Amino acid sequence: MEKIVIVTGAGISAESGLGTFRDAGGIWQRYPLEDVATPEGFARDPGLVHAFYNARRAQAAGARPNPAHLALARLEAEHAGEVLIVTQNVDGLHEAAGSRNVIHMHGRLNGALCGACGHRWPAPPEMAPDDPCPGCGAPATRPDVVWFGEMPYELDRIEAALAEADLFAAIGTSGQVYPAAAYGEFAGRMGAHTVELNLEPSAASRDFHEHRQGPASEVVPVWVAEVLGK
Ligand code: OAD
Repeated sequence: MEKIVIVTGAGISAESGLGTFRDAGGIWQRYPLEDVATPEGFARDPGLVHAFYNARRAQAAGARPNPAHLALARLEAEHAGEVLIVTQNVDGLHEAAGSRNVIHMHGRLNGALCGACGHRWPAPPEMAPDDPCPGCGAPATRPDVVWFGEMPYELDRIEAALAEADLFAAIGTSGQVYPAAAYGEFAGRMGAHTVELNLEPSAASRDFHEHRQGPASEVVPVWVAEVLGK
């Protein structure tokens, strides 16, 4: 049975109204990455970092999955083999669309993490630096998202899935952030057919066998229908 692994990035949620990072006017042009997405930035000004993620959590809570998320949920429901989504996105739009087999390698906005003891719990809509951890009581609460300089989650499980994949797709990601940027090259070397679906060629385009260029809401449903129709 064909195993399919799909890595997604901010581009798949762009048409749901959530901004991408590196496009013109993207999130990193408006908020310096060093200030809001690094452990050092959090140590300097935890209030600023919480405000940034509180705003993104509120925005994500009001967003709806678009046809690209829905098509991937259909793929998982109808494909006879395994479908695994590895997302770099911290929104919950894959789950909202109905996908179940999802790894959030960069964490999730709806999670809270204690920086002191590692306890995890559901994030309230608004988090503040002195919120106590429900586990140990330390005022070290942070969003359960992965910052630059930190290790993404579940890398061993992701690599094992990539090594076994028959088909690998990257959707809506600029191919500039590792390790996800290397997954196309790795999956291809391990024997998968690789496809990039993106608005424009990414920094990793040359690693893919096949390219579909256009908005995710258009190219992903077409691709899914083709995969299911084979
Ligand atoms: P980027 O903002 O770097 O890239 C988004 C990609 O999506 C670009 O290549 C766009 O051309 C493409 N795109 C934009 N709109 C699209 C649409 N409607 N349909 C299809 N493609 C579209 O976002 P990521 O690659 O996800 O990490 O960024 C990777 C990581 O860098 C993020 O998870 C985040 C960020 O810094 C952390 O915060 C740790």
